[in-house]
Amino acid sequence: MSTIFRPYTVRSLTIPNRVWMAAMCQYSALPEGELTGVPTDWHFAHLAARATGGAGLIITEATAVSPEGRISPYDLGIWNGTQAEGFRRITAFLKSQGAVPGIQLAHAGRKASTERTWVDRGAPISPESPYGWTPVAPSATAFKEGMTTPEELTVEQIGAIAREFSDAARRALDAGFEVVEVHGAHGYLIHQFLSPVSNRRTDAYGGDFEGRTRFAKEVVKAVRAVWPEDLPVFFRVSATDWLQENDDERIGWTAQETVRLTKELGVLGVDLFDVSSGGSVPDAKIPAGPDYQVPYAQRVRDEAGMPVAAVGLITEPDQAEAIVASGRADAVLLGRELLRDPYWARHAAKALGADITAPVQYHRA
Ligand SMILES: Cc1cc2nc3c(=O)[nH]c(=O)nc-3n(C[C@H](O)[C@H](O)[C@H](O)COP(=O)(O)O)c2cc1C
Repeated sequence: MSTIFRPYTVRSLTIPNRVWMAAMCQYSALPEGELTGVPTDWHFAHLAARATGGAGLIITEATAVSPEGRISPYDLGIWNGTQAEGFRRITAFLKSQGAVPGIQLAHAGRKASTERTWVDRGAPISPESPYGWTPVAPSATAFKEGMTTPEELTVEQIGAIAREFSDAARRALDAGFEVVEVHGAHGYLIHQFLSPVSNRRTDAYGGDFEGRTRFAKEVVKAVRAVWPEDLPVFFRVSATDWLQENDDERIGWTAQETVRLTKELGVLGVDLFDVSSGGSVPDAKIPAGPDYQVPYAQRVRDEAGMPVAAVGLITEPDQAEAIVASGRADAVLLGRELLRDPYWARHAAKALGADITAPVQYHRA
């Protein structure tokens, strides 16, 4: 039998296969009023379709732990009970299809307060605009020219955000999620702390590896403290800023640091790393070779000894199968290919000769 259709058990949770959907912002929640950040029919249809399509784990888009943590005003949030309640129908449906519902908890930091990608190519929304706000970050440096300069977080504010992550995790559990993924990648707040490009602090949250990783560890501890022992916590990491790896003279977050961090986060209770890359340096040159980010996932698996999911430009069943069968990753996460084909897992199962359960509606009497 193909390896990607073998179940994956982590703690007491069994995910029916290793074809998983990566978090993808939909920019489809309301930006104001009582239903701000609450899942809509679009989110239901989007997530439900991939569950009936056979993906074993469905991870929601980056879901904000606070209003300021949204990358756009149209993001999903889970900073209040109305939002949590809104997810319940979705998690129940995903489970009814045999899929595992996962939520990506996020804070966008200095990347926040931007337009939907299809409006002015995701241009910044100024703090003076009706839906805009001033973003926060480890240091008062804008992501790139033309973006709002963020406010530097105080130590008290940093502690408060870690608590927002744990409050969000508690609500997510209540809403029926079985996997929580902490978004530590793509230039979001946690990655902003990790990378010396965006973290210029001289206090306990900056400087050396210990200082720059402090916030990531505090968030993981805060989430682990409220997330049940028998359910897994995942962590998405950007394995590299692609600077030193490309002989760039600028000092960025490196793959070597990723190996060290993942090992240490494993001790704190992270069960699996979703290994992506990039995001904290706007002009970093990301080479998209045939294996793309898979070697970074493999490095975490081999050198940190932690389970990993590989992601990025995985489109073909044979390619996905080879990644897992060769032991380079424990699972694959698909993004855009699952947007193109919600039934990708079923098509892949057919191509690989695997047997996966069809929805009961399609069974013969
Ligand atoms: C429309 C879109 C929205 C995305 N939103 C998120 C997100 O909310 N959180 C995240 O970690 N990555 C996000 N990503 C990145 C994907 O999760 C994935 O890592 C990336 O698209 C590479 O995988 P792919 O080549 O299979 O698409 C997004 C990607 C796309 C295309």
